[in-house]
Amino acid sequence: SQPALTDALGRRIEYLRLSVTDRCDLRCTYCLPKGFRGFEAPDAWLTLDEIVQVVRVFTALGVRHVRLTGGEPLLRRDLPLLAARLAALPGLDDLSLSTNGSRLKALAKPLHAAGVRRLNVSLDSLRPDVFRQITGGRLDPVLRGIEAAQQVGFAPIRINTLLMRGVNDGELDELIAYCSTGGFTLRLIEAMPMGATGQSAAGHSLELQDIQRRLEQRIELIPERLPGGGPARYYRLEGTDAHIGFISPRSRHFCQTCNRVRLTVDGTLLLCLGREQSAPLRALLRAGISDTELSAYLQRVIALKPEGHHFNESPLNIDRFMAVSGG
Ligand code: GTP
Ligand code: 5AD
Ligand code: SF4
Repeated sequence: SQPALTDALGRRIEYLRLSVTDRCDLRCTYCLPKGFRGFEAPDAWLTLDEIVQVVRVFTALGVRHVRLTGGEPLLRRDLPLLAARLAALPGLDDLSLSTNGSRLKALAKPLHAAGVRRLNVSLDSLRPDVFRQITGGRLDPVLRGIEAAQQVGFAPIRINTLLMRGVNDGELDELIAYCSTGGFTLRLIEAMPMGATGQSAAGHSLELQDIQRRLEQRIELIPERLPGGGPARYYRLEGTDAHIGFISPRSRHFCQTCNRVRLTVDGTLLLCLGREQSAPLRALLRAGISDTELSAYLQRVIALKPEGHHFNESPLNIDRFMAVSGG
């Protein structure tokens, strides 16, 4: 039988989040601080060949889902080329992308042609002024990018929204309407205390259990399963074709069913988003490690994957920004 990656708690690892850059053209308040300078230097970035080797070994170990993330992944030069090389790997049956959408209009077509199919786009507000306040950037290119992605055939398209009290929580109905008209799944995300920015956002963000309860007073939510393998809980809005997902790491965490690890742009394998445990792969890759040796190494280090985050108990203990962690 095919070798598999299973951690010490029996969780099967089938999902790799691949951060292709830690840079971003936006500065969302809950993610990167303004003026942040701590980016990796280009010679620390894994090359396309190095990335392909890591993913090749992971897929031979049963990883079926690969999601391109960042930072903002569309800033990585040759991303369509990388995507095409990954899509060609046997065993990889789901290649997806998480983006802020600002450069999607120009890149939607080549990325789809390369074999990326599922697309998640961050969109926290439909009001240009609020959008700018949250992200520092412009709303319009993102909306145009989403349209372009839909035209070239990305499916499903999911919209990621971080709800913040007093900032964008009043827009929930507009966001639901925008997504149901466009055929997108709206996913509400609870802020996680990643770095100082995430910590302050988590300190004043909403608990999604409350949002869900309030929504349920107005409309029935019918639980459903949607493709993906990520942590969202999905519902269909009764009497409509609209779907909504909740990603609630703080009010209802999902670590027991975690199926993923992350690879950062500098080749660090992060075993858990909310913890420090990691394995540095870059030096091994640059020393010419073989696929067989890398496979054995990954099977050993996966045992170090922690049981989960401690966001509620000790929110101050994870000093790594989301853009650096790989979304
Ligand atoms: P699919 O289910 O494949 O569509 O994707 P996803 O929801 O896993 O990916 P996406 O990049 O859209 O992430 C949405 C949110 O979920 C982001 O805030 C991620 O940081 C968060 N997230 C994704 N995976 C994990 C995880 O393993 N642990 C935690 N705590 N959060 C995660
Ligand atoms: N907490 C939760 N989600 C975050 N993201 C960025 N920073 C945080 C945070 N501190 C989200 C973005 C994007 C996704 C990949 O990660 O909104 O949609
Ligand atoms: Fe998995 Fe860690 Fe995220 Fe929990 S916090 S779901 S264990 S990556």
